[in-house]
Amino acid sequence: MNTVLFRTVPINSGDAAQTVTFDFEGRQLHAPRGITVAAALMQNQVLHFRDSPVSGQPRAPYCQMGVCFECLVQINGVQNRQSCMTTIEDGMVIRMQRGQTTFTVIQTGEAQ
Ligand code: FES
Repeated sequence: MNTVLFRTVPINSGDAAQTVTFDFEGRQLHAPRGITVAAALMQNQVLHFRDSPVSGQPRAPYCQMGVCFECLVQINGVQNRQSCMTTIEDGMVIRMQRGQTTFTVIQTGEAQ
């Protein structure tokens, strides 16, 4: 039985301009430019993104389309970011989200 849920299509040509480097839990990882944070982490064999604040159980992306919120991580110090809806960028600092967190309001400059 095949237990792989997601399989990425190899698009990395080996060209450094097409690759981003990011930090996950202190590890320097690489991924093709243009994919989501969730895809970049899974491509690096990361399958534990956060812990449930209720049960403490490990969680990982499920829907990959912004519905389930199982993929929440901290990105560049901002908690509760949906990794499946965020494009990976060079130099991003990504941390697992553990337990209860606070909600951060991001000012966009748009009129309310
Ligand atoms: S995987 Fe479901 S919201 Fe990100």
